[in-house]
Amino acid sequence: MVRRAQATGVGAYLPAGVMTNVQLAQKVETSDEWICQRTGIRERRLAEAGEYSSDLGIKASEEALAMAGLEADELDLIVCATSTPDETFPATATRIQARLGMTRGAAFDVQAVCTGFVYALAVADNFMRLGQARNVLVIGAETFSRILDWDDRATCVLFGDGAGAVVLQQAECTGDADDRGILSTHLYSDGRYHDALYVDGGPSSTGTVGHLRMEGREVFRHAVVRMAEAIDAALEANGLTPGDIDWLVPHQANLRIIEAMARRLGVPEERVVVTVDRHANTSAASIPLALCEAVTDQRIRSGDLILMEAMGGGFTWGSALLRW
Ligand code: ACO
Repeated sequence: MVRRAQATGVGAYLPAGVMTNVQLAQKVETSDEWICQRTGIRERRLAEAGEYSSDLGIKASEEALAMAGLEADELDLIVCATSTPDETFPATATRIQARLGMTRGAAFDVQAVCTGFVYALAVADNFMRLGQARNVLVIGAETFSRILDWDDRATCVLFGDGAGAVVLQQAECTGDADDRGILSTHLYSDGRYHDALYVDGGPSSTGTVGHLRMEGREVFRHAVVRMAEAIDAALEANGLTPGDIDWLVPHQANLRIIEAMARRLGVPEERVVVTVDRHANTSAASIPLALCEAVTDQRIRSGDLILMEAMGGGFTWGSALLRW
């Protein structure tokens, strides 16, 4: 018998404010056509003044807990993936913990940029496998609009704000690939690629928050190769083939990257969950937002095998296999 982290609830929250490509084109020199052709993005949500990552995270968390039928004080652990914390410290997870009314257990953030949710899942899964937590809330919450250079058309058109959350509960399982729950996670990073995607500020360097800087082509090139490697590792570790995957729930950065991954795996279009057109890239929030949409509209059903993959600044990248 092995301990598995089974997903019992999922929630999402998007800020009310919508900014379409056409509206964006009134601020910077771009066009709906350019953005759509290059990325598949049509619009994004932006948090309003005074609305923080924790505010988005808490709403997603409440929805996930309600679906799981779990009270906040039954949680042992909150792991929040974010690169846009409310404050330099304490962790955004502790702000969410307080507002949920959870006073026991532990709460902390993980920071792996767009791979953050996959990293947070891996942390939660390992806590459960070791028997250190039974009920865990994993959140991806971001307000990337706050770290964008709104004069840089090459980056500001790509991102949006949002949050998603998943409740994981420990279950005793047989240990084979038919089990429900997280089957495996595979994490990677290579810090030599810092300059391709980073924020040019921070408490220890400039003392400012800074803005996101990116070499788009370099990121694109690496994304396809690196995520493919992480997917191969996940399938091999579980004795599975691409044909076993029911749903691809990828990080939502760019439709062209998503389509390239799906083509490589042979997963048909209708089995790929896509939200990038409406959400843009919400970094660590993008996978749980997409997962929540496909669970809520009942595309994903109990027993379905879900492959998640992501890549982000660092570079970081990784994959997770979850049987719903
Ligand atoms: N509107 C109009 N023109 C633009 C815009 C814009 N918003 N942004 C850049 N351009 C121009 C450039 O100035 C350039 O003009 P030039 O040829 O006169 O110099 C031209 O468009 C082409 O620019 P490139 O950067 O070469 O465009 P590319 O085809 O590579 O597309 C993009 C850019 C969409 C950023 C692409 O490289 C990409 O998607 N990369 C992946 C980046 C990514 O997804 N990052 C997210 C974080 S990491 C992750 O989540 C995987």
